[in-house]
Amino acid sequence: MTEHTVGAVAETAPGERRVALSPDGAARLRAAGHQVIVETGAGNAAWFTDSDYTEAGARALARDEVYAQADIIVCIHPPAADAVGLLRPGQVLIGLLAPVLNPDLARSLAQAKVTAISLDGLPRTLSAAQSMDVLSSQANVAGYKAALVAADTYGGYLPMFMTAAGTTRPAQVLVIGAGVAGLQAISTTRRLGAVVTGYDVRDAARADVASTGANFLDIAAPVSAAGDGGYARALTEDERDAQQLALAAAIAGFDIVITTAQVPGRAAPVLVSAAALGAMRPGSVVVDLAANEFGGNVEGALPETTMITDNGVTVIGAGNLPSGVPKAASTAYSRNIVALLTHLVGDDGLTLDPTDPITAGVLITHDGNVIHPAVRALVEPPTAEGAGA
Ligand code: NAI
Repeated sequence: MTEHTVGAVAETAPGERRVALSPDGAARLRAAGHQVIVETGAGNAAWFTDSDYTEAGARALARDEVYAQADIIVCIHPPAADAVGLLRPGQVLIGLLAPVLNPDLARSLAQAKVTAISLDGLPRTLSAAQSMDVLSSQANVAGYKAALVAADTYGGYLPMFMTAAGTTRPAQVLVIGAGVAGLQAISTTRRLGAVVTGYDVRDAARADVASTGANFLDIAAPVSAAGDGGYARALTEDERDAQQLALAAAIAGFDIVITTAQVPGRAAPVLVSAAALGAMRPGSVVVDLAANEFGGNVEGALPETTMITDNGVTVIGAGNLPSGVPKAASTAYSRNIVALLTHLVGDDGLTLDPTDPITAGVLITHDGNVIHPAVRALVEPPTAEGAGA
């Protein structure tokens, strides 16, 4: 086994509390024969101390030293511009780099001759890739936290309580979008004692919802919209209007609505209209997990923003929910990273085999070129000039 030095840097995105490598991940990499270095304090906000890392066999170093000594850097968010300047030719960068949203970064990394590996391109449906699936591991944490945020904001109990002071009715929860995050939100609100209903446009989700013990919402305008790779397709305008209307009628009866619906490569569909919010009871809570700068599932919801409508409905535009469960989210992310490294690093060291579907999905730049076809299409003109350089 060829030894590599794997370095984990502290995340610098505002409010981010996760770290890409946990002490447990460091120990696993050490056991596999690698050196591990961690930026001083990188795990603090996730409750991993520098001594946790050193006890696991890693060294805690200043940021510049991590960049200087590591041949593989692991991170969560794309590096800030100043950090890109610290990367050197041949160095490997692994994280959630979102190169399709940020082709300029891909171009810079190619120019710096960095080998960039982005886990958002992982072929998630391959069984061999499941242990590396950071999108699923973080969506799972987000779904869990969304349930807790909703429960914490709601003014009533989630379970039915029978006490000397009388019986309380359980909260009625609707989870729209029954993918990874949605199914976890369903399971968590059920564990808290709510009566939970799930809804999705993919037919396969019906069985997934049933397996959690929740009800499935049969709306008046059913749509069946499975797309490629287990995802949903975008609805046509007519389908979308019919769905919104039918959902609006159903939503009014719920105390808590958690939305998680996404369509790959598109803005999230608006599923809870302003009219639907207007028909909800005062004290109801809506958590929009899909809220981001491009929109969300709830009309008017903004990321990291909580607002209360005129009729007393609290609308929470969730932002980075996994960061709110930093220890669990970092532990899961770190396991995914270690699984990816185990896959990519063999006896001959790091091997980037373009015929391996996992490598083909995650490899963005290498040896001065943008490799990934979808990203190359976005950066083509400048890269074509520089490709031979
Ligand atoms: P996602 O985050 O892209 O979307 C969340 C959910 O929103 C999906 O279930 C989708 O069907 C739903 N949705 C989209 N548009 C909607 C609309 N207009 N109305 C209602 N719901 C809508 O999806 P996620 O959670 O990343 O994965 C989706 C599916 O792919 C799941 O079934 C998951 O189990 C499957 N998957 C399978 C993997 C595997 O085989 N290893 C790995 C990852 C995901």
